[in-house]
This record gives sequence, structure tokens and C-alpha cells, in this order.
Amino acid sequence: KTNFPLGIIIAGAPASGKGTQCKKIAERYGFVHLSTGDMLRAAIESGAELGKIAKKYMDSGSLVPDDLVIDMLKERLREEDCKKYGWLLDGFPRTTSQAQALLESKIYPDLILILDVPENELIRRVVGRRLDPVTGRIYHMQYSPPEDQHIASRLIQRTDDTEEKAMVRLEAYYTHIRAIEDQFSQVIHINGNRQSELVFSDIVDEIDRVIETRYNADTKL
Ligand code: AP5
Repeated sequence: KTNFPLGIIIAGAPASGKGTQCKKIAERYGFVHLSTGDMLRAAIESGAELGKIAKKYMDSGSLVPDDLVIDMLKERLREEDCKKYGWLLDGFPRTTSQAQALLESKIYPDLILILDVPENELIRRVVGRRLDPVTGRIYHMQYSPPEDQHIASRLIQRTDDTEEKAMVRLEAYYTHIRAIEDQFSQVIHINGNRQSELVFSDIVDEIDRVIETRYNADTKL
């Protein structure tokens, strides 16, 4: 675990591996993993008003309105654990307004990592993805299949994980990503079309580089 509470954004198309990598990063560095997709799905599950509104957008693959997501995330970032341990944003910002909302609130990320994966591979990952509701683990029926039949029998598929809805989600991603990138410095592209461990190794190199710079600056003071 690090003593440096960094703020990191992980961006990338649907199924580019953001959730998979964020779990590993949070485990290694202790940053708080904030996935707006998971937060919205939890709001749906709990029957909260936000969830009721979000559901119809998410089921069709389109983005939830900015104001709802921005309020939800800003509130969460104000909590003590994010200040103490640092944060890892997974799936936010997804529009220029969301990026501007961060900057206007003086929330400045130390690093923005974008996972690049070609479209045909993204579709393969979407349709093969399964989630374990007990452990929260992300599986893929070919690339990382469940360990045994017991786990396999309880896996669920997200309602937006069809090829048709993935195309709508991809379109939203391609529409916004360039403008989002332009709002920040410290943007690094990572080739996400490799084994998960290799992708993680590059991410660790980038995070360690930022920590080292921060450490050197602190020790100079
Ligand atoms: P969200 O939940 O954020 O979905 P997403 O961006 O479409 O991303 P995914 O969760 O689909 O994929 P991922 O990149 O995390 O990939 P994963 O690691 O699971 O958002 C869902 C919806 O919520 C949106 O459509 C929108 O409606 C709403 N929403 C959320 N945030 C919003 C915002 N800020 N504003 C407005 N609306 C918002 O991996 C995918 C699969 O590939 C898995 O099966 C995994 O096992 C496999 N895999 C991962 N890495 C590899 C690898 N290296 N090699 C082979 N397989 C791999």
C-alpha cells in the first residue's frame, strides 16, 4: 500500500478491462475504487430514486444524465476514505461536462490512463462477460472462465451486455473520449489488448512513476 493518496482516472471503451484492472490496482495501492456503473447498479438494486431514473438509460446502453452522475460522484469523493487513501475513478468522466465538473470542484487527477482495445475484441469481451454476485469477481466464459461448476451456476450477465447495446455504449464512448482527453494533462494510453497481467504491469509502471515524482518532490522540501 502507498502513503501517497493519488487520484487516478481509468478510461476506456465498454469492456476494455477497466473494472478488471481497477480491482488489481485498488488491492495493490489501497486507493478507493469508484465505479459509477457499479454505483448506479447499486442504486437500482436498492430501489433508490436515482436508480429508478438511471435504469431506463442504462438498459438501453445510453448515458445517464450528467447532473445525476456528477452529484452522486462528487458526494462520494467528499468522504474521508477518498481523501485519506486516494481514489480511482472507473467510468467517470464520460462527457466534457463531467470532466469540467471535476476541475471546477478543484478535484485534479494525478494520472489519466486510457485502455485501448479494438472494437471486435470489445464485442467478444462484452458478450462473454459474467459476474459473480457473491464475490463481485468478473469472469469471461472463454478468457477467464469460472473455477468450478458451483461458481458457474451462480454467474449472472448484465442486461446491457448484448452486442446491440454494446454498440450504443461504444458510440457514446467514441463521441466523447477525445474532448475529455483534451481537458487533462498526464494522459497515458495503455494497450489493453493483451493478457490482463501485462496490462497491469504497464499500469503499475505508470503509477509508480507518479509516486516516485511525488516522493522526490516531498523529500526536497
Ligand atoms: P459501466 O458499468 O461503467 O460500463 P462500461 O464503461 O461499459 O464498462 P464495462 O463495465 O462494460 O467494462 P470494463 O471496462 O470495466 O471491463 P471489464 O473489466 O468488466 O457503465 C454502464 C452504464 O452505466 C453506462 O452505459 C451508462 O448508462 C451508465 N454510466 C456509468 N457511468 C456513467 C457516467 N459517468 N455518466 C453517465 N452514465 C454512466 O472486462 C470486460 C470483460 O473482458 C470481462 O469478461 C473480463 O473478464 C474480460 N477481460 C478484461 N480484461 C481482459 C484482458 N486483458 N484480456 C481478455 N479478457 C479481458
